[in-house]
Amino acid sequence: MKSLFETYDMKGQKLQNRIVMAPMTRARAKDGIADAETALYYRQRAGAGLIISEGTPISQEGTGFAFIPGIWSEDQVRGWQGVTEAVHEQGGKIFAQIWHVGRMSHTSLQPGGGQPVGASARPARDANSKAFAFDDNGVAGFVDAGVPRPLETEDVARVVEDYARAAFNAVASGFDGVEIHGANGYLLEQFLNPHVNDRTDRYGAGNVEDRTRFVLEVVDAVVARIGADKVGIRLSPFGKLFDMPHHPLIEETYLHLAQALAARSLAYVHLKDQGPVATPAISEAFLQSFREAYPGTLILAGALDKERAERFLHAGLIDLAAFGQPFIANPDLAERLRRDLPLAKPNRETYYGGGAHGYTDYPVYQDSPEAKAA
Ligand SMILES: Cc1cc2nc3c(=O)[nH]c(=O)nc-3n(C[C@H](O)[C@H](O)[C@H](O)COP(=O)(O)O)c2cc1C
Repeated sequence: MKSLFETYDMKGQKLQNRIVMAPMTRARAKDGIADAETALYYRQRAGAGLIISEGTPISQEGTGFAFIPGIWSEDQVRGWQGVTEAVHEQGGKIFAQIWHVGRMSHTSLQPGGGQPVGASARPARDANSKAFAFDDNGVAGFVDAGVPRPLETEDVARVVEDYARAAFNAVASGFDGVEIHGANGYLLEQFLNPHVNDRTDRYGAGNVEDRTRFVLEVVDAVVARIGADKVGIRLSPFGKLFDMPHHPLIEETYLHLAQALAARSLAYVHLKDQGPVATPAISEAFLQSFREAYPGTLILAGALDKERAERFLHAGLIDLAAFGQPFIANPDLAERLRRDLPLAKPNRETYYGGGAHGYTDYPVYQDSPEAKAA
């Protein structure tokens, strides 16, 4: 029977187990550059079969949070090199999650203080739709996402090239590959959702080919730059995060993508279930359909524990299981899961921003209060 703890061959890359550290923004890069503390954080978690880095913006325009390490400048590439070296020294693998937030940004983060860009002029306006940016007094905090400026048809090609350049930079930084962030209400998903995408051009909302064209152009450009074996993509079907209303074409859209991505022979597709666990956004029936359309490596994330992850694995629905929050407080998560050791609980107050506290100061099991109590 398949096990979470056996090695896995992902298009020639040997993963030490089937446990993936999900991408998590931690907002601790004061000047937008990964540093020694970032490297330590990922080094501590290199027991994962695969680490996916926190979202790293492909451009200033693609940035929606202050204090996030980007991947467009030479200094940023150098910063990430320290991270990839640290992970590789521990025998781990790491992909960079390359990210453009689209409309989920704010003028204070944009080049020249301009409007954020999006698929349309429709802003995200539900209660969660905030950018972490600066107010009029320059104080950082959550602010309403801005009103976007729709990307001109010709401008789309420029953004596609920004993704490809970021992928090239990621490989230059020593990453083993990239994960294109196509989930969670950000730019690529803004094109997929007909409630947001009201375009009338070839990227428009009329039919599934047009709505998925931008995503597939990004995939193709990134593949052309660094090779399909190094390219994964994250998607969040049935997710509503950042004002993404459900629509009748969700299944059709994502199964079309599944087939198109299968034909491209990527490293993986990563589905993020936005949950909650009692009522998952991604039903098992949909996962089964996606699996049939996409026979390549499939990762699932979202409120997994060992038992659920193994059940999906044994049912043949997924190949790799991604864990997010459990990795925050348990740097040795893979080892704890393997030995059925108790898990430490992360402190939500220190998820974003700050320094080492709540970031690199969670101990491994043998040094933890859980072990001392045992
Ligand atoms: C602090 C934090 C930051 C996150 N940042 C990102 C991100 O940068 N990119 C992304 O795709 N998902 C992000 N996520 C979502 C996680 O990757 C993951 O899918 C989610 O936490 C659900 O998995 P879990 O229940 O195992 O935590 C973030 C989640 C948390 C808790």
